[in-house]
Amino acid sequence: MPESVQTEASSSVTHPHIDLNSRLQITPLVNHSVPQLQPDPALDIIRGLSQASKTLPAQYFYDDHGSQLFEQICELPEYYPTRTETAILQARASEIASITGPSELVELGSGSSTKTRLLLDAYADAGRSQWYCPIDVSGSMLKQSALDLLEDYATLNIHGYIGTYELALASLSPSILPSRMVCFLGSSLGNLNPQECQVFFDQLTMALQPGEYLLLGVDLQKSTQQLEAAYNDSQGITAAFNLNILRHLNWRYQGNFNLENFQHLAFYNPKDNQIEMHLRSLAAQTVELSTLDLTVELAQDETIRTEISRKFDLGELQQQLRGKENDSNHRKLEPLKVWTDANRWFGLVLCQRSGK
Ligand code: AVI
Repeated sequence: MPESVQTEASSSVTHPHIDLNSRLQITPLVNHSVPQLQPDPALDIIRGLSQASKTLPAQYFYDDHGSQLFEQICELPEYYPTRTETAILQARASEIASITGPSELVELGSGSSTKTRLLLDAYADAGRSQWYCPIDVSGSMLKQSALDLLEDYATLNIHGYIGTYELALASLSPSILPSRMVCFLGSSLGNLNPQECQVFFDQLTMALQPGEYLLLGVDLQKSTQQLEAAYNDSQGITAAFNLNILRHLNWRYQGNFNLENFQHLAFYNPKDNQIEMHLRSLAAQTVELSTLDLTVELAQDETIRTEISRKFDLGELQQQLRGKENDSNHRKLEPLKVWTDANRWFGLVLCQRSGK
């Protein structure tokens, strides 16, 4: 088990009346707890920047500044997923709570935990005690939103994990409540390629006990025009978010990416049903990441792909969740209920881990 530490937040003067010691626990997850699940991420950077079609792991968007920019993206008029998913949750949260019964909420990529409040309210309405387990790579965001939640929910207990989903899923403590519901909202599933998606579903299946739940929010296929507008907003926030990955790498690995030499690019790839974000090199250039001992040569107009954002078909997704029945590793994430908005822009899928 990872080492559990007292959060810095326990000395916060902004929330002096909260008994943090008894209601908040934050566990940073480190590589050595389950080393086989997290190869050194710098290897992904080196591999991605050394291949013919260059890529960067999207997890590097999310330093503290990147996490704040993402929160701004969620408010943009063009970026429909957040408000569409929120509206579905608003309409369905109490139905979800009555299907699952008392459950601990485990949220992967919790961010500001805004949507979580709708579910916590629904569980509170049903007179149930509340346990929340947020998981996020951004420690500062996780701590701040945990403090805000504790202030607003008097009977809430929080055990957060700072780290990747893989590490967290392998490290979760059993719940005091009869069940758990893992929430993976905001269509973050779309940022995994199909192979990563299969591995992730297998990790989820292993983390859940039979009878426990998964709530998945996914962006659905729609017109190219609407999709491309969502990733090319008129205020340039998505462009700043994309470019921030280079600033983050400069800081983390003593790099010399000049952000002015790159341009944000986002387009829909209809063959793979995915938005792709790239950074286009505006000139032939050489970039160094000193602590990785890495030199990268970029031609003019060459791009680095920084993110895929897949758009789903609900029928296909449900089949993938179920897995193949004649497979000995049959996955058994059984979709119980699917909800969408009236336009079918976004979907929520509630699954139950069945079997032994
Ligand atoms: C976090 N993820 C689901 C977002 C998406 O839409 O794929 C990240 C994002 N990238 C650009 N805008 C938003």
